[in-house]
Amino acid sequence: MSLRDFFEKYPERRYLMFGGKGGLGKTTFSATTAYWLAKQGYKVLVFSVDPQASLSDIFKRDIFGKGAVEIMPNLYAQEVDADQRIKAYQQEIRQKILDMYGLDEVPEEIENYIQAAAAEPAMEESAIFDAVVDIVVSGEYDYYIYDLVPLGHALYYLSMASVYDEWIDKITALRAEMEEYSKVAAVMQRSKESEEDKILKELQYIKQRINTSSGILTDKQRTAFFFVLIPEEMIILDTQKAAGLFAKYNVPLSGYVVNRVIPRELAQQNIPDYLRNRLEMQKGYLEKIENTFGNEVHAWVPEFERDITGLPMIERMAEVVFGGVS
Ligand SMILES: Nc1ncnc2c1ncn2[C@@H]1O[C@H](COP(=O)(O)OP(=O)(O)O)[C@@H](O)[C@H]1O
Ligand SMILES: [Mg+2]
Repeated sequence: MSLRDFFEKYPERRYLMFGGKGGLGKTTFSATTAYWLAKQGYKVLVFSVDPQASLSDIFKRDIFGKGAVEIMPNLYAQEVDADQRIKAYQQEIRQKILDMYGLDEVPEEIENYIQAAAAEPAMEESAIFDAVVDIVVSGEYDYYIYDLVPLGHALYYLSMASVYDEWIDKITALRAEMEEYSKVAAVMQRSKESEEDKILKELQYIKQRINTSSGILTDKQRTAFFFVLIPEEMIILDTQKAAGLFAKYNVPLSGYVVNRVIPRELAQQNIPDYLRNRLEMQKGYLEKIENTFGNEVHAWVPEFERDITGLPMIERMAEVVFGGVS
């Protein structure tokens, strides 16, 4: 089944993800699929949380931290800037403290704590996660394509239950931390009860958001997750392992796409031994892929003569993947 057949057969799968190791073509497939679906008349958002701004590279537009940017009719791309998000968080926390205690200025001790917390890796993860939740629950687009960072992260996002646990831990820790400021708090005459209430409300709000988004991203009916692989031994082995992990975490897997296949026709031409050897090597691995993943492979894509950047190259790739763009 081609990718085109896949989307035609499963029109309710509106959350798409391409996973796999770095450099195999996740961003390329994400952008290509987004392009093709947009050409079919769907409103599509392709987004990433990758600080390396690779959607900016592929679309040749600086979109980092700018929200959803229109690339062409129906096609929008967004790159989340986690740092910006963390700054917004800090401001939100400051404002909450000011409002809660009726202050005009955040006490220095608390400000120091806010600064220290922002430097923690968990804060960045949370900021990113929160941004993803915002995007997927927005419901503005027909298709959402989540251009993933390499595999470890993908698993992290997809096993939302553990993320949720982390959140709870973090908030519990925050509460304990707040307790430490009881002296400050006593001066501010806060009402203990109303604080508990607010924290509980916040927890319930977060829980509900996480349930909604994890519900979407792990819903077999609405999500399609594809692995990108290339005809190389280590990658094939890694992909098998990863697929096993996905099964273990109960993350639905929709199939595989194979990238960077050296065109077979070259074998008929007068080519250097170097290339002939690579062709021979790939032949073996392609057979292995065929035997291992067989009818779950939805696309075989050649290695192009240059990088896939800019809409004309994306269109060429879409023609190969989807057999024509109109
Ligand atoms: N089939 C292909 N032919 C030529 N270049 C490709 C092909 N697929 C990907 N590339 C290039 O390989 C690089 C890595 O691809 P990318 O999609 O960014 O990988 P990932 O997102 O998995 O890290 C990019 O420069 C991209 O343009
Ligand atoms: Mg990428």
